[in-house]
Amino acid sequence: MRRAKITVVGAGNVGATTAHWCAAAELGDIVLLDIPGDLADMPRGKALDLMQASPIFGFDANVTGTNDYADTAGSDVVVITAGIPRKPDMSRDDLLATNAKIMTSVCEQVKSTSPSAVVMVVSNPLDAMVQRALQVTGFPPQRVIGQAGVLDTARYRTFLAMELGVSVEDISALLMGGHGDTMVPLPSCTTVGGIPVTQLLEPSRLEEIVDRTRKGGAEIVGLLKTGSAYYAPAGATAQMVEAVIRDKKRLIPCAAYCDKEYDVGGYYVGVPVVLGTGGVERVVELELTESETAAFHKSVAAVKELVETMATLV
Ligand code: NAI
Ligand code: 2OP
Repeated sequence: MRRAKITVVGAGNVGATTAHWCAAAELGDIVLLDIPGDLADMPRGKALDLMQASPIFGFDANVTGTNDYADTAGSDVVVITAGIPRKPDMSRDDLLATNAKIMTSVCEQVKSTSPSAVVMVVSNPLDAMVQRALQVTGFPPQRVIGQAGVLDTARYRTFLAMELGVSVEDISALLMGGHGDTMVPLPSCTTVGGIPVTQLLEPSRLEEIVDRTRKGGAEIVGLLKTGSAYYAPAGATAQMVEAVIRDKKRLIPCAAYCDKEYDVGGYYVGVPVVLGTGGVERVVELELTESETAAFHKSVAAVKELVETMATLV
């Protein structure tokens, strides 16, 4: 049986860790690509290091490193983590201008070398970068997806498990909206072993946990000082890769293109989707409460503003 081919563009913290977890789960053969220059050999070094871990953990996957898109040709999935991460002294717009240019050049290459791939964007600011990937590749929107919701939901589940002293496995939850301060955790869709979370936590404590979730990325940046989170972001990305490669039909939150869905009007925003071989097979439309609807549309407005700013920069 032919193994799936997974390309990870950007062999930095998130990219290399995504490659690590995809290889360990034997999702396919992996090509790690980064830019030429002083560190041109870095993706080859990381790939070889990962290969040398395979006898220890017993996984069969070829991991190669490159600076040449020819080596990525015909990929089934292309994960894009290329770009700069946010540092404590950086504004959102600094990241937007630099990463939009990087996203443009990466997607021009992906379009010609892997025209049938499902593209998963991780680079920030996520909701604008995935829109840029759609514009440049011209792929069907179902095949261009952003990773944020799985990470944000994982953070929310972690904080709830820590608070309640229960297994993370027993927390089921959902978050919608953009990957930023306006994201919308949905207590109405949060259960602990089947029990609505609202029966286990006071509203004020739940609100504090929701607030910590919204600021979850900044909390890690503040601790790391030199970059942003990567273990959980990479784990979230690997889960999405698995859903596509193994046609799992996972119902998880992703940044998906929404037009009529939720009345978004042609932007990427975090919504629950069914993820399988074709990418986003369906956007699941929930009935939200009045306050959740208002919070979601506020988040969509923030995404639109970001996309409009990006249009002035590329
Ligand atoms: P990093 O700095 O460790 O790695 C980024 C890599 O991209 C570097 O190795 C760099 O050389 C490479 N790169 C830059 N330009 C490139 C190009 N044109 N082609 C190929 N590679 C290129 O950064 P890290 O921590 O891996 O983060 C990567 C991106 O992911 C950042 O934008 C970060 O903000 C974002 N991120 C998004 C998350 C999400 O949930 N959506 C979570 C965590 C990070
Ligand atoms: C995060 O949420 C920085 O987007 C990144 O950790």
